[in-house]
Amino acid sequence: MLAHTIEEVREKRQEWKGLKIGLVPTMGALHEGHLSLIKKAKEVCDKVVVSVFVNPIQFGPSEDYDKYPRTLDKDYELCTKEGVDLVFAPSPSCMYPEGNGKLSNDTLTYVCPPFFYVNKLCGKTRVGHFDGVCTVVLKLFNIVQPDLGFFGQKDAQQVIIIKKMVRDLNVPVKIVQCPIVREESGLALSSRNKYLSEEGKKEALVLSRILNNIKACYNKGITDVAALKETAYGFLTDKHDMEYLEILDRNTLEEKSKADKDSIVLIACRVEGVRLIDNIYLGEG
Ligand code: PAJ
Repeated sequence: MLAHTIEEVREKRQEWKGLKIGLVPTMGALHEGHLSLIKKAKEVCDKVVVSVFVNPIQFGPSEDYDKYPRTLDKDYELCTKEGVDLVFAPSPSCMYPEGNGKLSNDTLTYVCPPFFYVNKLCGKTRVGHFDGVCTVVLKLFNIVQPDLGFFGQKDAQQVIIIKKMVRDLNVPVKIVQCPIVREESGLALSSRNKYLSEEGKKEALVLSRILNNIKACYNKGITDVAALKETAYGFLTDKHDMEYLEILDRNTLEEKSKADKDSIVLIACRVEGVRLIDNIYLGEG
């Protein structure tokens, strides 16, 4: 079933009282990465809801909100194939009736995750991004009232911040994190890969190569974070505009001078102007 309004979702939710509900929040343009979250949700829940909403308040003014791929018909078809029980695809004015998505935290009640978690990695350049993410995710949790929410390790900072929000605000939703799905080449699946040319997709392999190489060096016994980061430079050319490469604690995002089994390596790099992110755990998944 496809729902465009909050009332329709609430009605379904009422019907499903007592059942275990899973929510997979997405911005659509679904690929195998999203589908892996849906499959996991189908495995452990009685009913699965997928939201498809390109959330205007998590995009900065110079970001790709307008050109972000919107493929609802295809997304709905994929969800139906996976046995999804409800696809919730609201309009911006349904989610933000006041300003049709053109809202700021001067006029909208926002969730502001702590500075410590947003003042690094993607939050450094995407100012306000995680406020927008947390706000929409909390709204979706309140609309759907799921027992479980499914998120990908692909957006590692996002899932850490959402877990923190849920704990700090006593939101009764269990967060389930799912592993990164990659193409055979190693490229992490992303809706933004659609912006890349064939040549760009090859250049984009630099992200997973850098991550895998750091892990290989760590496995050989190198633990000094500065030395591990240094190994990346051999992979970069003028086709790659690296935004960050960090090795942090995978649960707290704290900096470390020595990498260990709890470390995560995170990278953001632009290829053909497209901002791509990826990460890898140095210890067991
Ligand atoms: P979106 O980028 O559509 O991603 C939806 C979910 O799919 C996220 O939890 C993301 O981590 C996961 N995902 C994306 N690529 C993946 C991959 N290759 N392997 C595994 N999981 C992957 O993230 C968002 O949307 C938005 O910020 C959202 C949470 C929906 C709030 O608007």
